[in-house]
Amino acid sequence: MNPLQPAIDRYTELVGDSPTGVWAGPGRVNLIGEHTDYNDGFVMPFALQHAALVAAGVRDDDQVVVDSLDLSETHTVALDDLTPFDAPDAPERRWSDYLLGCVWALREAGHAVGGVTLVLSSDVPVGAGLSSSAAIECAVVGALCDLFDLDISPMDRAKLARVAENAYVGAPTGLLDQAASTLCTLGHTLFLDCRSLETRQIPIDLAAAGLEILVLDTKTPHSHVDGEYAERRATCERAAAILGVPALRDVDDLGSALRVLAAEADNDRLVKRVRHVVTENDRVLEAIEVADSGDLTKLAPLLDASHASMRDDFEITVPTVDLAVETVRDAGALGARMTGGGFGGCIIALCREGEGEGIGQRVAAAFAEAGFGAPVWFTATPAEGARRLA
Ligand code: GLA
Repeated sequence: MNPLQPAIDRYTELVGDSPTGVWAGPGRVNLIGEHTDYNDGFVMPFALQHAALVAAGVRDDDQVVVDSLDLSETHTVALDDLTPFDAPDAPERRWSDYLLGCVWALREAGHAVGGVTLVLSSDVPVGAGLSSSAAIECAVVGALCDLFDLDISPMDRAKLARVAENAYVGAPTGLLDQAASTLCTLGHTLFLDCRSLETRQIPIDLAAAGLEILVLDTKTPHSHVDGEYAERRATCERAAAILGVPALRDVDDLGSALRVLAAEADNDRLVKRVRHVVTENDRVLEAIEVADSGDLTKLAPLLDASHASMRDDFEITVPTVDLAVETVRDAGALGARMTGGGFGGCIIALCREGEGEGIGQRVAAAFAEAGFGAPVWFTATPAEGARRLA
């Protein structure tokens, strides 16, 4: 069956007419560069084949009707009643806010967006660190741009989607996820400088190098609308203020920065957080050189070092994630790291082609032995960014 058909049928059932179109926003894995985006640093994601699909059409009233095919729920909100998370009378946040927030963000930015029906269906795993929320936002922003004739560049679409996430939903994230969803292209990993917003599409042909990337979901759910992510971000901002730089991106001499921070009361935490961000930015730059050289096996030690830094310095890994990384390395993966915001979710492992499945099974066995729930996994190749499908 046409994979778009269920969303089209649901739209037709709700509205009594076919949708104007169907738009997609993919999830992503971040190859390297974690918690660097809100420090004005560097990231290197690629889009997944998993995507959020939105069947959409304009309405002739002032309502926003959002429907989730996966949850069988419909919510209707009048345009004037769209309420960001920090408004005094804000209702509790729910899944529909990722869609409603996009309508709100575009209107706040002065775009003429009216009533609309949006039917959502997504196969991006939720809470896995694969940007299921940005996938939704970027599909919706794409739909709104086309439906209301808005000429907005992919980068500006990503920024608007981020406004939905930060100001409407209330998750204080950086630009990584939304930029990955709107800007990534088939067969490439994206380099993004989160300060200058310079981008580069870097060809990455894993199969030609005899490699594959295993994405393994530990099924330990994580969330960004909670304290830990915001705490890491606030600590980075405080460290930058102590160091007298606009952002940790600007730390050129790590040794002397760490000596300055050592004088602070909570010096251990500050030193570790800063060391992670500064070394992670360096690893992204090295990863670009590796990708350019074509010898992708050399990504492996960078992935390993990134994981160790997230585990020991940024302290955002959890036992399931660390066990998964150790097990894939023991099982023959060349290098591995957690991907995404942390505190659960997915790891990625660079494997020799054809070995990912067996390596995933080794993790399943190790999880069973440790009394953890069963993980799930797949191999990923860089897929297309957000686009209209029909
Ligand atoms: C989440 C956020 C991103 C980024 C990553 C960590 O995915 O949405 O902005 O900060 O965590 O790299």
